[in-house]
Amino acid sequence: MSHTATATKAASAFARDLPYYAPAGNECALFEQAYRQRLPLLLKGPTGCGKTRFVSHMAAKLGRPLFTVSCHDDLTAADLTGRYLLQGGETRWVDGPLTRAVREGGICYLDEVVEARKDVTVVLHPLTDDRRLLPLERTGELIEAPDDFMLVVSYNPGYQHILKSLKPSTRQRFVAMSFDFPPPRVECDIVARESGLSHERCVALVNLAGRLRELKGQDLEEGVSTRLLVYCATLISAGMPILEATRATLVEPLTDDLDVQEGLLESIRATFG
Ligand SMILES: Nc1ncnc2c1ncn2[C@@H]1O[C@H](COP(=O)(O)OP(=O)(O)OP(=O)(O)O)[C@@H](O)[C@H]1O
Ligand SMILES: [Mg+2]
Repeated sequence: MSHTATATKAASAFARDLPYYAPAGNECALFEQAYRQRLPLLLKGPTGCGKTRFVSHMAAKLGRPLFTVSCHDDLTAADLTGRYLLQGGETRWVDGPLTRAVREGGICYLDEVVEARKDVTVVLHPLTDDRRLLPLERTGELIEAPDDFMLVVSYNPGYQHILKSLKPSTRQRFVAMSFDFPPPRVECDIVARESGLSHERCVALVNLAGRLRELKGQDLEEGVSTRLLVYCATLISAGMPILEATRATLVEPLTDDLDVQEGLLESIRATFG
């Protein structure tokens, strides 16, 4: 087999393993540029709009290992960097996910970064400016991040409140992009592909989602996500009647308020009734 044939075969095997991600704009190119220029990246957007999928797709595309951490309000710097653990009567230093990503030249993805405790930013700052350094206070190490290390963080501006926003000195260390629900044509492709439901039936669901999203703000914190549309299409594809599937995926997860639920159901009945 020629070299070209081998390379093509390898490339197509690689493409098959790539987590599916349908771009809505130039986000793949921007991610790739940030990676090549060694710049950290911040993604903002509502729940279930494809941020996590995008990062796993890009990590696979760039051939880098991915270390994902879901941040929460108990997350400390040590959870990211590592700690001494007692193992078989000995204390041994064990790298946390951020340190592993730095040592191995991987992508570290901190999801819902605004939730993390303040001491986390102390670790992130030297890593996200031109120094690209990770200081490990406990071991006395100062690790220089290799060229193929990248830090990606994300948050949902929707549930941000004053006490939990990123400080300007943190956010201004990142190249940033906003995510939203994909344009209808792309969202139909996604929902069809992820659920197995026919494209035609997905068009109707995506149109309905557009109408339900218009109700956002009046009564709902956040519009129905692409994730929920995929759930809905999956249940319909498995044989569940449409009204039952839509109630379970596009109404109940969105609100507990019975009046608001009724409003959503009205839109649904008007579409599928
Ligand atoms: N552009 C896209 N391409 C492919 N699948 C997508 C895309 N956008 C959304 N999806 C589908 O929606 C689901 C939810 O996306 P994902 O988990 O990436 O959302 P998220 O933005 O990370 O949400 P959260 O903020 O709640 O973590 C995925 O599992 C996938 O099925
Ligand atoms: Mg996510």
